[in-house]
Amino acid sequence: MSHISTLIETDIAAYLKSHEEKSLLRFITCGSVDDGKSTLIGRMLYESKLIFEDQLAALEADSRKFGTQGQQIDFALLVDGLASEREQGITIDVAYRFFSTDRRKFIVADTPGHEQYTRNMATGASTADLAIILVDARKGILTQTRRHSFIVSLLGIRHVVLAVNKMDLVGYSQEVFNDIEIAYRRFAAGLGMDGHAPFDIVAIPISALKGDNVTAPGPAMDWYRGPALFAHLETVEVEDRVLAGPLRYPVQWVNRPNSDFRGFSGQVSSGRVARGARVRVLPAGRESTVARIVTRDGDLDEAVAGQSVTLMLADEIDVSRGDMIVDAAAPAEVADQFETTILWMADEPLLHGRPYIMKIGPLTTQATVTTLKYKVNVNSFEHVAATKLELNEIGVGNIALDRRIPFDAYAENRDTGGFVLIDRITNATLAMGLIHFALRRSANIHWQAVDVSRDARARLKSQMPAVLWFTGLSGAGKSTIANIVEKKLAALGRHTYLLDGDNVRHGLNKDLGFTDADRVENIRRVAEVARLMADAGLITLVSFISPFRAERRMAREMMPDGEFLEVFVDTPLTVAEGRDVKGLYQKARAGQIKNFTGIDSPYEPPEDAEIRIDTVAVSAEEAADEILRHLAQRGIVALG
Ligand code: ADX
Repeated sequence: MSHISTLIETDIAAYLKSHEEKSLLRFITCGSVDDGKSTLIGRMLYESKLIFEDQLAALEADSRKFGTQGQQIDFALLVDGLASEREQGITIDVAYRFFSTDRRKFIVADTPGHEQYTRNMATGASTADLAIILVDARKGILTQTRRHSFIVSLLGIRHVVLAVNKMDLVGYSQEVFNDIEIAYRRFAAGLGMDGHAPFDIVAIPISALKGDNVTAPGPAMDWYRGPALFAHLETVEVEDRVLAGPLRYPVQWVNRPNSDFRGFSGQVSSGRVARGARVRVLPAGRESTVARIVTRDGDLDEAVAGQSVTLMLADEIDVSRGDMIVDAAAPAEVADQFETTILWMADEPLLHGRPYIMKIGPLTTQATVTTLKYKVNVNSFEHVAATKLELNEIGVGNIALDRRIPFDAYAENRDTGGFVLIDRITNATLAMGLIHFALRRSANIHWQAVDVSRDARARLKSQMPAVLWFTGLSGAGKSTIANIVEKKLAALGRHTYLLDGDNVRHGLNKDLGFTDADRVENIRRVAEVARLMADAGLITLVSFISPFRAERRMAREMMPDGEFLEVFVDTPLTVAEGRDVKGLYQKARAGQIKNFTGIDSPYEPPEDAEIRIDTVAVSAEEAADEILRHLAQRGIVALG
């Protein structure tokens, strides 16, 4: 690991030195499997001046392991990104290739073309300024072409080259080329209607194999008057949105090597910062002035987008990792609820109500999709009602976080407005997202402080509140055991309440069924209720199948440490099915009940339950006694 980083760092340093004066174009090539993408990239690399040809393979092998979603590609950052993204187990298949010509240097994001790799394409596109959309002249525009174009426009790429490839195989026909160009422009005009920025299109007929119009016009297509591909890539003007924008500086870490040096390290994500500049620290909102801009090679007067530095402020104010230092005159916004677009990249679907981790720049926070408004059909741009998003689907929904964060709309800043969603348990990347705007309601509802505290309520009852969370298959014996435990607690003079799935589903949750999405919502609501009951000072017993780890973990995290006890009522499916007290297993086997837990709906057993009850080995009465002993150990009850 370290030696690869060093290798890359050295190469990058050399690369930057020899090409400092050249402008950089980041682009992506999008195509279906046989469109000739690798032939084209191969030809571009061949025709250009390779900088570190021999190390390309090493770089390439390594760059497969990281994505740089939401970050400006910068060489130093590639190295950083490599380390941190790897730690999180993110594997996104994008190879970044570096090359240059006499006039410009390039980074091309090369991504596999199969449909299931949309996620790679999206990752590559999130940092590109231009996209080459490859079309096979014999096939014309395909679903993939439309999907890729949609994503390209969604992710804010404003320049597209429609490269109509394999012209040699259609006899270099001008008519074929014209038809494809017209059809594509007609399709692309519809993209703007969905609210995201339209892109400008340059259509070029090429033969990646033979080389026509790649570096120079070929004699076979003398009817074509436009630029060859390279000439276009070398001269196309891309607006430097990062440099032009207001200062955004997400703090990656706080340095405190000695008491009189407090520096905030990170990378200027957009704009510039000069010594003496007036800045604001978000989300808190305190202001100060930049006292020093420190680097390993000494202080700077100014740092610009892409540079990694350490800032020191004139005033002692609280700054932590994940805060954002911004231009005081043009600050970012701060909120905890947003409307967003989500590109779902995982095999298991997105469920609204389920907690995920959101990573936005260096900041991570808990996030829940509160409403899924619709998903988009990328062929027709139609909005389709949805309760979940499947692999590669794109939808619009509201997201709520557990705290306020600084951000910009993605349309303003791809770094501070783009995020990824990560699975809380596996750490896998699940989705890429773009913030549209903050929901105003988040700014207008405040937590109402009350004078009688949680502690005071519990003290009045002379008890410690707790949540006893029973989980297990239907018919495992959860309710039977919970019922006995509650009776015993009542006999000891404890104040309790038992929330039972079957009962709560008759009232509060009677609108919910048994799909995954409904179960997530079922548990979210009962966890909130359990929290309130514990707040009221009660020992709260919850008896729900609660089949998913993620929601049980969410319920646990709502409670103070030590007050949540998970009780796994562990009964093998065969035993629960054999008992079949309610006759439901029989119906489920007969297909009369759908989505039945253990039959055609999953149950994820707990890995870290405080108490595990083996109902085959012990009776319900014995199980209840065991649970009481556990409560006594924790000081929640005193056994005489
Ligand atoms: S949970 O999965 O959302 O936690 P919950 O505990 O509320 O489930 O409800 C489970 C109870 O609903 C079961 O004990 C059973 O009586 C009843 N039930 C009806 N249909 C199903 C089903 N498809 N899967 C599981 N339980 C069902």
